[in-house]
Amino acid sequence: MISSRLKISFFQFLSFHLIIQFTLISSNFFEPFNVTYDQRALIIDAHRRMLISAGIHYPRATPEMWPDLIAKSKEGGADVVQTYVFWSGHEPVKGQYYFEGRYDLVKFVKLVGESGLYLHLRIGPYVCAEWNFGGFPVWLRDVPGIVFRTDNAPFKEEMQKFVTKIVDLMREEMLLSWQGGPIIMFQIENEYGNIEHSFGQGGKEYMTWAAGMALALDAGVPWVMCKQTDAPENIIDACNAYYCDGFKPNSPKKPIFWTEDWDGWYTTWGGSLPHRPVEDLAFAVARFFQRGGSFQNYYMYFGGTNFGRTSGGPFYITSYDYDAPIDEYGLLSEPKWGHLKDLHAAIKLCEPALVAADSAQYIKLGPKQEAHVYGGNLHIQGMDFSQFGSQSRCSAFLANIDERQTATVRFLGQSFTLPPWSVSILPDCRNTVFNTAKVAAQTHIKTAEYVLPLFSNSSVPARFIVRNEDSPQSTSWMTAKEPISLWSEENFTVKGILEHLNVTKDESDYLWYFTRIYVSDDDIAFWEKNKVSPAVSIDSMRDVLRVFINGQLTGSVVGHWVKVVQPVQFQKGYNELVLLSQTVGLQNYGAFLERDGAGFKGQIKLTGFKNGDMDLSNLLWTYQVGLKGEFLKVHTTGDNEKFEWFDLAVDAIPSTFTWYKTFFDAPAGDDPVALDLGSMGKGQAWVNGHHIGRYWTIVSPKDGCGSCDYRGAYNSGKCRTNCGNPTQTWYHVPRAWLKASNNLLVVFEETGGNPFEISVKLRSAKVICAQVSESHYPPLRKWSQTDLTGWNISRNDMTPEMHLKCQDGHIMSSVEFASYGTPKGSCQKFSRGNCHATNSSSVVTKACQGKNSCNIAISNALFGDPCRGVIKTLAVEARCISSSNSGYSHY
Ligand code: GAL
Repeated sequence: MISSRLKISFFQFLSFHLIIQFTLISSNFFEPFNVTYDQRALIIDAHRRMLISAGIHYPRATPEMWPDLIAKSKEGGADVVQTYVFWSGHEPVKGQYYFEGRYDLVKFVKLVGESGLYLHLRIGPYVCAEWNFGGFPVWLRDVPGIVFRTDNAPFKEEMQKFVTKIVDLMREEMLLSWQGGPIIMFQIENEYGNIEHSFGQGGKEYMTWAAGMALALDAGVPWVMCKQTDAPENIIDACNAYYCDGFKPNSPKKPIFWTEDWDGWYTTWGGSLPHRPVEDLAFAVARFFQRGGSFQNYYMYFGGTNFGRTSGGPFYITSYDYDAPIDEYGLLSEPKWGHLKDLHAAIKLCEPALVAADSAQYIKLGPKQEAHVYGGNLHIQGMDFSQFGSQSRCSAFLANIDERQTATVRFLGQSFTLPPWSVSILPDCRNTVFNTAKVAAQTHIKTAEYVLPLFSNSSVPARFIVRNEDSPQSTSWMTAKEPISLWSEENFTVKGILEHLNVTKDESDYLWYFTRIYVSDDDIAFWEKNKVSPAVSIDSMRDVLRVFINGQLTGSVVGHWVKVVQPVQFQKGYNELVLLSQTVGLQNYGAFLERDGAGFKGQIKLTGFKNGDMDLSNLLWTYQVGLKGEFLKVHTTGDNEKFEWFDLAVDAIPSTFTWYKTFFDAPAGDDPVALDLGSMGKGQAWVNGHHIGRYWTIVSPKDGCGSCDYRGAYNSGKCRTNCGNPTQTWYHVPRAWLKASNNLLVVFEETGGNPFEISVKLRSAKVICAQVSESHYPPLRKWSQTDLTGWNISRNDMTPEMHLKCQDGHIMSSVEFASYGTPKGSCQKFSRGNCHATNSSSVVTKACQGKNSCNIAISNALFGDPCRGVIKTLAVEARCISSSNSGYSHY
């Protein structure tokens, strides 16, 4: 008896112990540590740190994607994850908070902590970010007397409430560094310096108030204000730009921080896609650390997706890929990710020297070449290298900022060749471990492979047919018409033209204006006689206007505060005139966003009448918000007794303002899923009730995608791709939103697309290529800190290597090209040169085929020497296939 009681208490003790341990693990990620800063760097737990940060916005991915994104950031060499906090998502209704699903901020921060990374939380709460309304909840504009982002009591009150809420939440969850959490830094406001002058004295007062309010929250970690040259003494002002190596904070006591390194750019509907070459990006980052920077964040490291109606404006697309190192789908974007990983490893090797020095020693190496040397007590003039003992730390960055010429420079008695627009990193002041222009990392060619058509007819092979026993509609589409008429019980009639957002409160993109126009015999005779037609004229309009006369769509206008002159045809008698005003993402940048509004501005009239213009603001208008399908939530179940669905005939003519639905099975495997909506016009799509986002098959101009040279200063217009093609045709459907079968897809189409051609695709990197020469540096992982401080490193025993890797779950199925010698061309266009080792293909195949990844030494020892005295290069192109072989590979 006694012994059994003892046993029980022993188990109780055990489980109690486990619970304590579990609580400790789940809430404390680090030993509590303090974060401060000095003029050189952030000081973490009493150590200055050089920090690489990865920008990831949590609602632009699903919680299921977060762990992988964080892991890939860590593997890529990030120390920190940076995110904004999205007020509109967290307080969708005034006073009602939401922290679940994609807005589960606490979970995101905890995942970052669990991975051992730090977190920089940019609360804003204005964030810009190409996010709807810059992150402000739209209800904020209805707070009486409010003026955003200035010395305005109602605004300050709401802002303070929200910022306090977030800081308190982080503190309660023990997520601050001194509690053992990952948060090392906050941000208040966002680039307020850009617009401060618009508010006169109120701007200055607001800025000072915001800083003081943030500090008074006593969060115990530093705060930054980016682009805020007048930031108060105890707030770090930081740089946002493509290059920040010349940046000087507004006080000598502050470190040099780069909160947004724009490694790509966002995309506008109808625009081409931005691409920032990684050689230039690496150059910018290396220059930043070379010239004294100590915290650098990639905006974005993962851009992700503007799901639902979260994308901002004017006209930002659903994808927020940003040409970031991790693509929209969570796959690596190569060679960007890999080259930056090498860069980060090189910078890390320099960290001891970088943090030891308050500033660098500058050496001019040539007209456009310079060195910055970091090390304890170095005196470079006439420096004799041998004077340093084995414990000395010396790291150097050698830059060639010449945009055209390679330069050979002398540095500490050695000669170094520097490609144009590049930086060489020498963690021991002697050996180059990395040059920003020499990319050894592999390239990926990604495709979205066709998996499932959503429709089948006799011309489609039977194996493509999606079969779902439970779902009679699985192989077909159903359709329903969106009425161009009054259906809402909430509609109302008033005289005059109301402002769009005042009516919709942004609960939908769509606002309908209905009125009647009387046309007399005289009017018609006048038009016929003078060969004129009347026109709807609006002084200014954004984003999309559609004009319906007597139920027929007669014209569409797209623009950002453009004048509208839309000719219309009326019949004799009463005509129904419907103006449909649509938003495509609310403005997210600028002063006075609360006044910006949407829809129409200025005079609105009908011109060309016999008796002159007709002022439409004198008429009675009936207002209706949204679509009937939205109101009935047909995207959640697809069904609603008040909505009439019909089978869609194969030969149906394209129809405007139409709903479509079907069911589909999820493709097998883990590869990310995309919907190809390239056959559609414009609208929105939902899968299993999740709002995939707006879609729009709008083609970008043919011109503007010339060749791209990494050399020279980057701007968002340089290096565009995809000219002449639709801006976006693939739309990410996160795996977590799919079930194995019977997934409901609902599409609302405005302009008459063809749903029969919608398909489900799998996104993967099918082709990988790399090109590494004997003149490349040995892999970064082969260098270690001891080597570099120990001065005993030698290049001879370190051969350059090629590293090839298919995405997770994939293996190399074949080596399409391999040549060790002097191969020419680039990925998918390689050819042999005069010099070629005949065993190239067999060596590479043996090393790589059937594997997820492989390393190949670039050396004669492996391939034999096909041509003496010539610098050899290995070029490889391999194919990757899914290792499970299920899913798409059988098509
Ligand atoms: C910055 C802003 C970011 C983002 C970026 C462009 O000025 O701070 O939020 O909008 O521009 O992608």
